Amino acid sequence: MSIFSDIAKLESDNFSDAWSEKSLEDTFEYDYNHLLMEKRDGKVVGYVIYSDVQGDAELLRIAVDKSYRRRGIASILMQNMLDELVESGAERVSLEVRAHNISTVTLYKKFGFVDIFIRENYYTEPEDDALIFQLQFT
Ligand SMILES: CC(C)(COP(=O)(O)OP(=O)(O)OC[C@H]1O[C@@H](n2cnc3c(N)ncnc32)[C@H](O)[C@@H]1OP(=O)(O)O)[C@@H](O)C(=O)NCCC(=O)NCCS
Repeated sequence: MSIFSDIAKLESDNFSDAWSEKSLEDTFEYDYNHLLMEKRDGKVVGYVIYSDVQGDAELLRIAVDKSYRRRGIASILMQNMLDELVESGAERVSLEVRAHNISTVTLYKKFGFVDIFIRENYYTEPEDDALIFQLQFT
């Protein structure tokens, strides 16, 4: 079974616009897209997907299995992503999050991201504003 089937399962557990195994495979055809995973008990329990296009990075997805939350797994993934970006000389990393996704907004703020823009009513299922966060390295 491909590693993408584990990620696709976590996607469908966590997102109404879940990425399929096929779309994950297509995503990693491009070498500017990166995947970091954390395993516990022999299975993938968390992942982050980010792009880095000439130093302009974007956090595209992050999720942790519900049974493994509040144990620092997303923090490890965030720190590993930031370390890789600093190492590669990236200038900034941006992301977009639902305004009502308080746990994730709290996580991003903890890592120094600042909100720079709001896209009102950007999301559906359910409706929500999008907050654009950014962390500048240089
Ligand atoms: C957001 C998410 C990835 C956090 O994963 P996690 O492994 O539980 O996070 P951590 O244990 O590393 O927590 C890091 C910090 O995030 C914040 N946080 C995480 N969950 C939180 C919650 N339920 N409420 C408030 N703050 C929370 C806290 O600041 C926490 O630090 P603390 O534990 O020292 O207080 C996880 O809740 C998840 O998968 N959510 C669903 C998917 C999602 O919404 N992804 C983001 C899409 S943009």
